[in-house]
Amino acid sequence: MKSIVIQTEQKTTSEILIGQGLFSEIGERIDFLFTDLNVYAFYGAKLREKYPNVPTYAMHAGEKFKTKITLLNLLEKMRGAELKRGDTMLCFGGGVVGDVGGLAAALYMRGIDCIHVPTTLLSQVDSSIGGKTAIDFGGIKNLIGVFSQPKKVYVDSDYLKTLPPREIRCGLGEIIKHGALDRELFKILCDHRDRLSDLDFLSGIVPRNIALKADVVERDAHEKGLRKCLNLAHTTAHAFELSDRNLSHGEYVLIGILFEAEIAKRVLKDTDEEYLNELKELARLALGKVPKLIDAREAAQYARLDKKNTEQEKVSLTVPVRQGEYAFLDLPYEQYADFLAEIAETLC
Ligand code: GLY
Repeated sequence: MKSIVIQTEQKTTSEILIGQGLFSEIGERIDFLFTDLNVYAFYGAKLREKYPNVPTYAMHAGEKFKTKITLLNLLEKMRGAELKRGDTMLCFGGGVVGDVGGLAAALYMRGIDCIHVPTTLLSQVDSSIGGKTAIDFGGIKNLIGVFSQPKKVYVDSDYLKTLPPREIRCGLGEIIKHGALDRELFKILCDHRDRLSDLDFLSGIVPRNIALKADVVERDAHEKGLRKCLNLAHTTAHAFELSDRNLSHGEYVLIGILFEAEIAKRVLKDTDEEYLNELKELARLALGKVPKLIDAREAAQYARLDKKNTEQEKVSLTVPVRQGEYAFLDLPYEQYADFLAEIAETLC
């Protein structure tokens, strides 16, 4: 078992344990269990056996349930269970469970401890790490949320074995995004492009992804500057996620990489085109066929409202430039919308 500890400027400590067969290690007292119905169908018996009398709430599975209703339902269940300040909630599931559960734990009595057991590839390499919690609100992704580091995260490769191929594809979205920030990871991904759906290969690179993210979070937990690099491709990903709604977050991140690599080429003079094409090739391989997307101009309208934007009528993006290098762009909205429309013609 490998352990990575994140100590933030805010003096919070989060321990990430990475290995196999960690279920028996989740030894802490657990006072409330939050999961979703899909995960509970798989792991409910195991959880009930380990935590027989622990109050449990299973939300409907899926990103469309990352809402205020789910959050309020969860808080009501926590109140009903009479949780106290010193109690601990276990969030057992994918990214949505972690985001909503982490937010509820941070809000309830101004904060109780939270432990994550991420069960998807995406939540293992990205969303369970770093303390971002949120719900979508008013047509904007992750608008209501707080930074709140989990006390512990148990990243267990056992859970990857039961994932459908689509979930692997979603995790690859964030893994290839990390590859755009880390030369060595990029090389590993390129050298093993024929193993992008091989679980042994993926389990092997999970710790590297976590270490990369942990390093960024430790230096800028509240996203004042550096952490914005982790938003690479995410403005366009969120724009299509809100407008198109047919795919999952990680698949839209792959699509975001395809678009934003092209935007970088059009706007910046110092891009490495060969590298950007290789990055796009990786995203295409992970995605399979690029799906027909809805009107790119409609998607651009959602980007106009993105919470990452820093100036009126401008769209903020983190785009790949050269191996391991990225740039922050603030593009006039009309220009961004034109780019999306143009690039969509060439991709789909
Ligand atoms: N998923 C981006 C971040 O955690 O900052």
